[in-house]
Order: sequence, then structure tokens, then C-alpha cells
Amino acid sequence: MRPIRLGMVGGGAGAFFGPVHRTAARLDGRFELVAGAFSSRPEAAGEGAALIADAARSYPHYRAMIEAEARREDGVELIAIVTPNHLHYPVAKAALEAGIAVLCEKPLALDLEQARELAALASERDLLFAVAYTYTGYPMVRQAAAMVRAGELGTLRGAQIRYVQDWLATPVEAGGSKQAAWRTDPRLAGPGGCLGDIGTHCYNLLHSVTGLNAVALAADLQASVPGRALDDDVQIMLRLENGARAGIWATQVAPAVAKNGLDFHIYGDKGGLEWAQEAPDLLRFTPVGGNSVLMRRGAGGLHPAAVAATRLPAGHPEAYFEALGQLYRDIAEHWTQRSRAPLFGARVADGVAGIAFVETAIVSSRSNGAWTAMIPQAIAN
Ligand SMILES: NC(=O)c1ccc[n+]([C@@H]2O[C@H](COP(=O)([O-])OP(=O)(O)OC[C@H]3O[C@@H](n4cnc5c(N)ncnc54)[C@H](O)[C@@H]3O)[C@@H](O)[C@H]2O)c1
Repeated sequence: MRPIRLGMVGGGAGAFFGPVHRTAARLDGRFELVAGAFSSRPEAAGEGAALIADAARSYPHYRAMIEAEARREDGVELIAIVTPNHLHYPVAKAALEAGIAVLCEKPLALDLEQARELAALASERDLLFAVAYTYTGYPMVRQAAAMVRAGELGTLRGAQIRYVQDWLATPVEAGGSKQAAWRTDPRLAGPGGCLGDIGTHCYNLLHSVTGLNAVALAADLQASVPGRALDDDVQIMLRLENGARAGIWATQVAPAVAKNGLDFHIYGDKGGLEWAQEAPDLLRFTPVGGNSVLMRRGAGGLHPAAVAATRLPAGHPEAYFEALGQLYRDIAEHWTQRSRAPLFGARVADGVAGIAFVETAIVSSRSNGAWTAMIPQAIAN
């Protein structure tokens, strides 16, 4: 089976996540990176050429790339968008209009109107559109989702999802951090700071694992660092569609041992599950009135969805690269089978839901944390 021809926008020299995408895409040999517009600086096209076989396919601008690649018989089939957030919409729109499928970074767009337009365009053109919610690729996250669906937790009663970082605890955006500079600028990041950057991962995990949507939320967003235009610390209560309660705490200013302290505790009337992404091979299940069980990726007795997302034997750790690699593998499976099997937690509908979450949280916080109905996504979920 020949590899799918991949193009990339963003992810040039000094970028954080582009190199993670390139590694993840290569893991299973199902993609070949053949073209890119890797940088905001057109003159950097030469540096990007080192990343691909044909230097002529490193373009100075994404529009030049999409135009040229759409004309080629062997042009790119999927574009990974790994730029700051404000470019997700224009790049994705241009790719879809040229008939090219998209894997877009989160948050999907700057507002719900853009997000819905992208979803509609992908649907009209019958093109695959995935959103890179990396954490849904972890085998033990898939195990948790399978356990919930199998009724092993009983009726869900509640969930707490936390994402704790501290790298924005000081005004590093003023000190030359590129990643911090765009993430704290509403024109480039969108209306949510920490909310859009990592709060959306929390909401996506809540929905992906429980299978439930939120119907209302009460949010308190704060910019802790003086002068910062966007929130950096987010506390949200949510009501889920089955009557369960949930909480999200996402922060980029809380010093802690964990540096990407994403974890969840989800519980029902039969048992509870706990998982933390800094030890992603482990999942704890505690039945009501019983002893806790420590489950391990790669060991026996797991659901098929967790087994299918596992590459290495138990004890050889898998983590971040493999989680994103799983999203690429899911796309390749979907692609080659042309099945309509949904991508787990990484569909365009999940991206739209993330933007609806951001917008609802901002409305609530501006109303002094009032309970606010979730803005409808208006697309199939
Ligand atoms: N899914 C995840 O787990 C995850 C993790 C990290 C980042 N992200 C997302 O990935 C995206 C990139 O984040 P990052 O931390 O890598 O940012 P970054 O600042 O490190 O990298 C951004 C890259 O985009 C390039 N770029 C900017 N404008 C461009 C243009 N007009 N044309 C082509 N390239 C352009 C920059 O030159 C740079 O190479 C963001 O949307 C972020 O939210 C997602």
C-alpha cells in the first residue's frame, strides 16, 4: 500500500509541534511528507527543503503550495496545519477548496462561524477533516472510553479533568518566547488563551471518554499575569446531558511537579477511573466497595480499542509521539478503507464542539460566572 502524500503548513525551524507531527506521521509508514510551507518567513523555504525529498516542493507560502500541489498528479492528498491558531481557518479553507483533505490543529478556528463553515465545506466536498486532539490517541484513554461504553462504571455521575502547566506563570511572552507571544495575543490565538490552548483538550477528553455532551457551564476565566490580554487560568463547572456534573481546571500559571499535568477522574454508580498523561500507560479502576485495579497498556484483558492503539509490549513506554501517531494511523485506516467509521475524538465535529465550548465559557465568565447554556454546534455530533 503506497503512503498517503502529506503536506505541512507551519512546523518550521524552532517550532514546537510540527516536528512532533512529522515523527508521528512516520511511525507506521503510512504517510510520506512530500511538500510544505513550513514558515511564516517566505525566505525560510530553503530551510524547509531539508525536510522533504524534492526541494522545489518547499514553498514560500501556503497558497503557492496549495495551488501548485493541486495541479500535480502526485500532489499532496492531506495537509497537516500546524501553525498558530489564526491561520487554521484560511489554510484549511484553501486546502478544502482545492480538494485536499485536512488534519488541523486545535483549536479548530477563531470562532464558531469559521468552525462551522469548515465542517460544512468538508462535508460538501466529501473530504476527510480531522482535528489533532492528541490525547485521544493514548491506548488507556481508549480503554477508559470502552469501559464507559461497556457499562463498567455504571451510570456516570461526575468527572474532573485537569490540565496543569506553569510555563506562563511569568510574562515570558515579553522575553522572546515565540510560542508564548502568539498564545497570549488574541489576534493570533483567538478569544481564549489557556481556555483555547489546553482547556479544549480537557473538554474533548471529557466528551470522548464519557460520550456525553455538556448542556451548560459556569466559567471563571482569569488573566493572572498583569497586562496579559487573555486568560491563563480557567475554572469551569459543567452539567452533562445525563444530569452528571463535571469540572475542568486548566491553568498555565500553577507551579507543580507535573509540567503537562493532564489527568481525569470519571466516576459512575459502579466504579471510577483515573488516568494521568504523565504516566499514560496506567489506568486505575476502583469498583464501588471494592479494591482498586491498576491496568497497564500492553497487558492482558483490555478492550480491543486499547489493544489496537498499542505498538510496543508492556513495559516499553509509549507516550506522546505514539498518541499523535495513532491519530495518523486512524486517518490512514479511514482513508484506505474509505469507511465512514468516525475518528475517535478527532472529527471535525469535535473541533467545532471545542470552539462552542470556548465561546460559551467566555460568555459565562463575562456574566460573572453565570450558568450558561452551551451554544449549539448545529452540526452532527
Ligand atoms: N494537539 C496538541 O496536542 C498540540 C500541542 C502543541 C501545539 N498544538 C497546536 O499546534 C499549533 C502550533 O503550535 P506550536 O506550539 O507548534 O507553535 P510554534 O510557534 O512553535 O510553531 C508555529 C509554526 O508555524 C509557522 N507559521 C506561522 N505563520 C505561518 C505561515 N503564514 N505559513 C506557514 N507557517 C507559518 C511558524 O513559522 C512556526 O514554524 C497551534 O495551533 C497549537 O494550538 C497542538
